[in-house]
Order: sequence, then C-alpha cells, then structure tokens
Amino acid sequence: MSSSYLFASILTLQIFLSSSFFQAAAENSRLFREYIGAEGKNVTFTDVPINPAVDFHFILSFTIDYTSSSPPRPTNGDFGAYWDTENLSPSQVSYVKAHHPNVKVAMSLAGDTVNDHRVFFEPASINSWVRNAISSITRIVKEFDLDGIDIDYEHFSADPDTFAECIGRLLYYLKQNEIVSFTSIAPYEDDSVQPHYLALWRKYGHLIDYVNFQFYAYKKGTTVSEFMRYFEIQSANYYGGKILVSFGTDGSGGLSPKNGFFRACSMLRDQGKLHGIFIWSADDSKEANFPYETQSQDFLTSMI
Ligand SMILES: *[C@@H]1O[C@H](CO)[C@@H](O)[C@H](O)[C@H]1NC(C)=O
Repeated sequence: MSSSYLFASILTLQIFLSSSFFQAAAENSRLFREYIGAEGKNVTFTDVPINPAVDFHFILSFTIDYTSSSPPRPTNGDFGAYWDTENLSPSQVSYVKAHHPNVKVAMSLAGDTVNDHRVFFEPASINSWVRNAISSITRIVKEFDLDGIDIDYEHFSADPDTFAECIGRLLYYLKQNEIVSFTSIAPYEDDSVQPHYLALWRKYGHLIDYVNFQFYAYKKGTTVSEFMRYFEIQSANYYGGKILVSFGTDGSGGLSPKNGFFRACSMLRDQGKLHGIFIWSADDSKEANFPYETQSQDFLTSMI
C-alpha cells in the first residue's frame, strides 16, 4: 500500500468519523413536553416552571370523540375539549405563548377514560370518521390557537389498518393545510395497543414528528439497563423516529428520577439519541411544586 493511498484512506476515515459524530450530536434536542389538564387539579400554564432555553410543549389532555352524557357515547370523530378549559382556556393559551416565545401548545386525542368509562377508537367508517375528525379538530385548534396534536388512543374496537388509515388521513390533512405544525403519537408496550401504532408508523410515519413513548407504562422499579434496552427496542419499532423518553409523576411505573432516569438520559445524550423528555403530568406535579420539571429542563440545557 503506498503512503499516499494510506494518507487518503485516513483522511476519508476522519471525514467519515467527524461527519457521523456531527450527525449523532445533532440528534440531541432541548425539547421538553408535558401533559396538562386531565385531572381536575386546577393546574395552570403559569404554575409550571418554564426554562427559556428549552423548546417547551404543553399538551392539553384530552380532546375526546365521546359525548359528556352518562354513560358517555362515542361520536365517530366529533371531538370535544375535555381538559380543564376553565384554567386552560384560549385566553390563557395566548397569554402563556405571548410571555414565553419558546412555548407551543398541543392537544392530545382520546386518552384512557372519559368520566371513568374507557375511551375506544370506534369509527363507523373510515370516511365518516375522518370527515368528522377534520372538522372538529380544526375548529378546536383554531379556537385555542394550538400548534400541534398528539394521538393517544389506548383502547380499540377497530383493527390496526383502520386505525392507521383514519389517523394517517387526519394527520395528512392537518399538516398539508398547515392547521398544525407538529404531530406526535403516544404508544406503550401492550399487545392490544402496539399493533395499531406500528401499522400507523409503517404507512404514515413520515407525518409524525415525535414518538411520546410511554416508558412509565413499564413495570415499577425499571432499572437503567432495562430502560436502555426498552429504548433500543422501541427505536427499532419506530425506526427513524424521534423517540422521547418519559416518566410519570403520578406514581406510575417505569424508570423514576430516583432510580436513575437522568443517568439514562446522560447515556442517551452521549450516544446522540436524546430527542427530548416528556412528563405525565403537570396535574400530578403541582402539589410538590414541579421539582422534576425544573430538573428535566436544567438537564436539557446543561452541556455536561
Ligand atoms: C378547583 O377550582 C374549583 C372552582 O374554583 C373548586 O371548586 C375546586 O374545589 C378546585 N379543585 C381543586 C382540586 O383544587
């Protein structure tokens, strides 16, 4: 091997290494997201500490396609606002956005329950569900001046392909017409849940900006190494997606800050895979005055 060939090879290797390092480093982000408004705790946007150096997304929880009657009835894609709209009103959205230029506000579709009844994804047909969802979601987004939507159906009476088609067409319309500027999904590891989100990801993943994976739905006492393995499994499932890490402040499962959540975040950041952190939920964090919201945002803005 000639020395000039060797020199060229080393140069190529260096360029390759530095460009892949650059790409990896660029994948880390300062995105912090938090669900808010599901639990009737009178929590407001301004209760929550907001670090000016992060990208902050509030996610209003939830907008639901059910009636508020007793018992609640599915409405085939005709959504209404079921979060605490007294404390999280259109004027409060505009106030928090005006005072914090780094804040955007989204809403999440569906959730677990409405008035203690499970919320099912239950379309009468693809076309009718999509038509109703487009008009009701567009109306609510405009009324509250929202920036994004999150998909959090957790119970299903339709198959994965129907779910993928309904949600995919909704997301396509909302993005194509610039009704929202970002979208996310909130799956968790469960045999009755994942196939729906994976079908959606396969066909319409290019329309989904973030995967709010519910790592707090794993067992309590999850260790750092288990968490790192779960992260790799879900990164393979949602290949090419921005998988955000998460924990709950409601006493749910997963890897808690006390058990090493931020250690896991450091490892992911070293690997260039820390796409952001989200917390369920502001309502649950209010009583303790949001220590983990502060810590998460401090972590995201620290250089170590
Ligand atoms: C929330 O506010 C309402 C109206 O002011 C009050 O009746 C209710 O007790 C409050 N709930 C909590 C949990 O603070």
